[in-house]
Amino acid sequence: MAHDTDDNLGPQDGVHFRDVLAERVRSPSRRDLFWWGALGAATTLLPACGDDASSDDSLPGPDAPDPVPDGPTPDAPDPGPVRPAALGFAAVAKSLADVVTVPPGYEAQVLYALGDPIDMATPAYANDGTDAAATFDKRAGDHHDGMSFFGLDASGAYDPSASNRGLLCMNHEAITPVFLHPAGPTVVDGVRTVADEVRKELFVHGVSIVEIANTGGTWSVVKSSRFNRRIHTGTVMEIGGPLRGHASMVTQYSPAGTRTRGTVNNCANGYTPWGTYLTCEENWAGYFRRVTTTDNPNRTAKELTAFGRYGVAGAGRELWSTVTPDTTDQLFGRWNTMVQGATSADDYRNVVNTFGWVVEIDPFAPEAAPTKRTAMGRFAHEGAWPAPAVAGKPIVFYSGDDSRGEYVYKYVSTAVWDPGDANRTDRMAVGAKYLDDGKLYVARFYPSGMGEWVELAFGKNGISATSANYAFTDQADVALHSRLAADAALATKMDRPEWGAVDPLDGSVYLTMTNNTASGRSLASLDAANPRHYNDPKTVGGTTTPQFGNPNGHIVRWKEASPEATTFMWDVFLFGARAGSPSNVNLSNLTADNDLSSPDGLWFSPASKILWIQTDDNAYTDVTNCMLLAALPGAVGDGATRTVVNVNTDGATREVLTHVGAPLGDKLRRFLVGPKGCEITGLSETPDGKALFVNIQHPGEDTPVAQIATPQSTWPASTAGARPRSATIVITRTDGGIIGV
Ligand code: FEO
Ligand code: CA
Ligand code: CA
Repeated sequence: MAHDTDDNLGPQDGVHFRDVLAERVRSPSRRDLFWWGALGAATTLLPACGDDASSDDSLPGPDAPDPVPDGPTPDAPDPGPVRPAALGFAAVAKSLADVVTVPPGYEAQVLYALGDPIDMATPAYANDGTDAAATFDKRAGDHHDGMSFFGLDASGAYDPSASNRGLLCMNHEAITPVFLHPAGPTVVDGVRTVADEVRKELFVHGVSIVEIANTGGTWSVVKSSRFNRRIHTGTVMEIGGPLRGHASMVTQYSPAGTRTRGTVNNCANGYTPWGTYLTCEENWAGYFRRVTTTDNPNRTAKELTAFGRYGVAGAGRELWSTVTPDTTDQLFGRWNTMVQGATSADDYRNVVNTFGWVVEIDPFAPEAAPTKRTAMGRFAHEGAWPAPAVAGKPIVFYSGDDSRGEYVYKYVSTAVWDPGDANRTDRMAVGAKYLDDGKLYVARFYPSGMGEWVELAFGKNGISATSANYAFTDQADVALHSRLAADAALATKMDRPEWGAVDPLDGSVYLTMTNNTASGRSLASLDAANPRHYNDPKTVGGTTTPQFGNPNGHIVRWKEASPEATTFMWDVFLFGARAGSPSNVNLSNLTADNDLSSPDGLWFSPASKILWIQTDDNAYTDVTNCMLLAALPGAVGDGATRTVVNVNTDGATREVLTHVGAPLGDKLRRFLVGPKGCEITGLSETPDGKALFVNIQHPGEDTPVAQIATPQSTWPASTAGARPRSATIVITRTDGGIIGV
């Protein structure tokens, strides 16, 4: 969504558990050092602070796991060849131009832009605010985000190896309201007075499923496909997992608490080994109206704690609930989550509890209702990234909670993987088997370079009816309030966890920490996994503004002995920075060919083994628009420990020991730079690695209504005054080869 405004959820609890934890675990144990030593880094891991490393083994923290294997287990999918030795393209220069730039030898085509029809009957998009609201459930949504490609064979069945025809599933996270209507949204005294404007907005959020095909080297949407489908804020959805039928899910729409309507703020994504798509609800809280002065007296103390922790307060970011008169099915009023009726079956006081989840969709079954998988926890879900499925082992997903100081999660299914399930066509039933029953964990990153997954289970790890922050009732309460459970479990607060990616070669997990502010990551709150506070001065129009905190972000990675392991070893793979910034900031030795800020999207190509990195930045945008980079990583522990010298705005300093991956040099290169005002987000690829799909989100979003005729960007058009559109592009090589190598 909008640059740097993802973090719009409420404040956390006032107790800084992390500080308590940091004090408890500030020194590595001998066993920690042994484990690092097993990966060749022991000689550089002598502690620079804390106690003598030889002190004892009694500090809190995990026992050493079994030695980490060098590669995947024998049952893991064939990883193919090793990672290439070098990238196969020339680095793209930083740019402020209103175009998409790719390297020589590559071409980028626009495939699917805001408003594009997904059937034969819907007219072409006028893109001037006049397109009829009723047509928008048959048009591409706005703010294209996470996406996945699912191959189709000649008969139209799922074929994970098909590369010329497939279904592209993608999220539409949010909107740029100024361009959707003739002259921006009509708001009078805080009220949306044009119902059709709101109807349009309700449709352009959600998910697209469109069939695409490569005909003679040109990709296009197959508008006649029976699979084409829009899922939006009104689509009927089932509740799966521990919250199904729970009293906290009861609404006027579903007195049984088994269903809800719609999904919103769908940020990143995931996919399953059985061929379903996962869409994740990120900043859902802001869409709901809850006037605290009116509603608070009607709420319990526990409800108020939960609302505070999830940021459920305010008028509602698009004011959807203000439309009158409402429809008979409360199309608008359901966005008001205040107590209004006699019971929870008479109003939408609980509707917020039906958002914040991972939602599973069967792209091959247009008639199947999506299901919210509540066992995977409720927070600002950025996405859900699978570990490779291994026969007889649990199914595992990793998730980030994208807000300042939030956590990293891992879901481990109770059922173990049966490879026969990959070929079943009752995919939502398979989803229920693996995603409705499992354990949810949250990460602690220890200064030693070890980490631990702490189970969020009622009755364990400080999570109980007598927890200091919240009186948990049962496991459903833990799933519904994962953030509060993670607080009680003393998880490590991170610098806005965004996307993850799992290395197909060794199963290690990479996760972006996109950035943090000066207050969100003060000197006092630094820790080994979030070790930087610095100034990144930004110069616009001759005026230089300081940017303190961690404005450029970093990427943490870890490796586990097996997907269900409860310990891991971690390092920081990459630190964002301007090339030329001081050495205590540019810890990864970035150059003009690969410097970046605010890493967000991540994806490992199974074909090329490249790690793709996308940016959603507002710090380095005095120099460059957002970008896509390619990396050829080494392995966790391939670098060294390092003491980072941090300086705040008052000149105070603090040294922090961290673990930095080996500098990448020219194994990290900029591949693409986007148009003005955009974020680069969402990435998928055909299985042969020869077509790369990339989303360009919200070009020109900084355009005020008064300048609607002269927008900041006109992309993808080059016509003066054209309204910009979020769009999917497809990138191919002119010689037809694999992208990037
Ligand atoms: Fe929607 Fe976290 O970016
Ligand atoms: Ca994101
Ligand atoms: Ca973001």
